[in-house]
Amino acid sequence: MNQPSPSPAPSISLQARNVSKSFTSGAVRATVLHDLTLDMRAGELTLISGPSGCGKSTLLAILSGLQGTDSGHVIALGQDLSVLDKRALERFRLHHTGFVFQGFNLFPALNALEQVELPLSYLGLTPVEARRRARASLEEVGLGPRMGLRPSELSGGEKQRVAIARALAKEPDLLFADEPTSALDSANGQIIIDILHRIARTHGTTVLCVSHDPRLVGHADRVLGMEDGRILSDRVPSPLSTPTPGIEEPSA
Ligand SMILES: Nc1ncnc2c1ncn2[C@@H]1O[C@H](COP(=O)(O)OP(=O)(O)O)[C@@H](O)[C@H]1O
Ligand SMILES: [Mg+2]
Repeated sequence: MNQPSPSPAPSISLQARNVSKSFTSGAVRATVLHDLTLDMRAGELTLISGPSGCGKSTLLAILSGLQGTDSGHVIALGQDLSVLDKRALERFRLHHTGFVFQGFNLFPALNALEQVELPLSYLGLTPVEARRRARASLEEVGLGPRMGLRPSELSGGEKQRVAIARALAKEPDLLFADEPTSALDSANGQIIIDILHRIARTHGTTVLCVSHDPRLVGHADRVLGMEDGRILSDRVPSPLSTPTPGIEEPSA
């Protein structure tokens, strides 16, 4: 018991194996993902960057089980998604994945607490537990004092933090974010990416974030450069020298 134990190697939580995807429009068939193989690790924020149209959203949709592959496999938390039927896939997505979008996707009439509570009812939580989790998630993204406000009373950055709290409250193993900062200014964008990074570290979540914003690169554990449906680079960015204002490290 007293022996210092080595920190465990991060486990691979999400894999793409020779994934290809094409879309047909009219007589034209275009390949959007070319035989893509990738491993993602728990506890890491992986940023997928690349120009518009290179296949980032398609890759995210496939890795999260929202879309199927033409060939190849996605193995998420040890489960090959291609063998699941529609219902089993929906259950997998409900219990293990969270999603954050560019456009926040909030209900205009609900306050922040209600936005976060709502999807928790589908998980079968009691109302008391749903409220406890919703409050904790909103506090974690720094919105504790503003949880009674509706979207029209919140800034863009705050709205995106509500959307992150909503995904986080499900306690997902896999968290996907598609261009979560593109509707925000640079300072708010950095706050959002740092919150996603902190979620990966403190909850052991696999966080996959898509962005074409090069300013976010230094905030990730790993950056995949994508072009024309292929991953052309896979690197660990150099850490930032200065912390982003507005984000405090949780005390140990
Ligand atoms: N459902 C679809 N039907 C036809 N073409 C699609 C569909 N989804 C995406 N595409 C095409 O696939 C390519 C990649 O799209 P996408 O994955 O959205 O790229 P990104 O997110 O990098 O901008 C684009 O050329 C897009 O038009
Ligand atoms: Mg996209």
